[in-house]
Amino acid sequence: MIGILCAMDQEVAALYEMIQQPEITEISGYRFAAGRLAGKDVVVAKCGVGKVNAAICAQTMLLTYHPELVMNSGVAGSLSEKLRICDVAVGQDIVQHDIDTTACGDELALVPELDRVYLPCDGETARVICRAAEKVGVHALPARIASGDQFVSSPEKKRWIVEHFGAMACEMESGAIAQVCCRSGVKCAVIRAISDSTDGEHAMEFEKFLQIAADQSVKVLLEALKAL
Ligand code: ADE
Repeated sequence: MIGILCAMDQEVAALYEMIQQPEITEISGYRFAAGRLAGKDVVVAKCGVGKVNAAICAQTMLLTYHPELVMNSGVAGSLSEKLRICDVAVGQDIVQHDIDTTACGDELALVPELDRVYLPCDGETARVICRAAEKVGVHALPARIASGDQFVSSPEKKRWIVEHFGAMACEMESGAIAQVCCRSGVKCAVIRAISDSTDGEHAMEFEKFLQIAADQSVKVLLEALKAL
């Protein structure tokens, strides 16, 4: 089984609708829909925005459905000229840019217990996603993704993340999902279509492109599922 997690209604609605013969289970307010999608056994859930929501939902998914792979689909802010609106960042690895225990002598963004800064995404799945994107005519790049409980919308914050971590896109959930997966030895993949440029210079950009970018991510996800 493949687990699919999305943060927002705009990112998950089409998937909930497309699932064949869904079996719905609600746990702690999270709605899990298990069924068939693009020829695969899947379970889909909306985890809500932010790392705590994503961690609760991902861990619950692992313990209840035991997926061999968890895919996170949705939108992200761009940190790179190479990723324009509606392009897709395919996670190579994930850094949680808001973890900072440097005052205790740790490396910036070191994840407690796991003792690493960069959390892995499954390489083979990432390659399948990139090929799927090409097939459906979407510009996609393998990318380091920065995740944190913050909507990034200033040139200063954008620059800070790029300088410290070399990330190309940012969002608010995949760090938690990758951490949950890493602890349990489950493969993880991240597909994020760009909805905004993160520098706060383009008013209402996120609202304008949220749905279009979310649909773009779903398009790539569905094609990748077929090939997995
Ligand atoms: N998701 C989409 N755009 C984002 C941004 N600018 N910051 C954090 N998460 C996002």
